[in-house]
Amino acid sequence: MAANPLETIEKIGVVPVIAIENPAHALALADALAEGGLPIAEITFRTKAAAEVLAILKDKRPDFLAGAGTVLDLESVRACKDNGAKFALSPGFDPQITAAARDIGLPFAPGIMTPTDLTLATRAGFRLCKFFPAGIAGGPKALEGIAAPFNHLGVHFIPTGGVSLETMGDWLKHRFIAAVGGTWIARPEDMREGKFAEITAKAKAAVERARAIRA
Ligand code: 3PG
Repeated sequence: MAANPLETIEKIGVVPVIAIENPAHALALADALAEGGLPIAEITFRTKAAAEVLAILKDKRPDFLAGAGTVLDLESVRACKDNGAKFALSPGFDPQITAAARDIGLPFAPGIMTPTDLTLATRAGFRLCKFFPAGIAGGPKALEGIAAPFNHLGVHFIPTGGVSLETMGDWLKHRFIAAVGGTWIARPEDMREGKFAEITAKAKAAVERARAIRA
């Protein structure tokens, strides 16, 4: 696996976005995703369990690429550090958050939706950004337009929000897309209901789709 987690994300092409409610499901989730060929997850700080889940995965599944998502404040950056998040993403761009992430050496992809956001992010040195919310922001066509003036900087994107197995190929066929993200692979109810075999199947389908599109 590549040393830089963000490079690994690019290589695999898919990031499962996770809202996990119960830390007791952390290992089953990681094992289910890894079995499906996705040894990676964005554990979002939308649930109280997120920090503990990151700590468990760091300790018990050190090879699993567990990062953080929904990083909306400096407390979350600290929680990334304290619990061993290997990377972090945010739905928006906040210079204080990205500076704090940089200070602790946390690989970070801020979120953008407009040319203004993208100007701020690229000025801060970022070349990998989340595009959020990708579907209602206008899909691949909209991002193509937004990104056009920034292409020469070599910016790549992780569209998230409204992406699915059915639509992921529409994104991944573009060279400026690093990976797609989404919650469809492992939903809170899948974990609640113990449907880990289904998570494996959805991960596998997503990995296969990414490979086929990029072949
Ligand atoms: C995110 O945080 O990246 C999005 O809420 C995921 O959106 P989705 O549920 O449409 O995949």
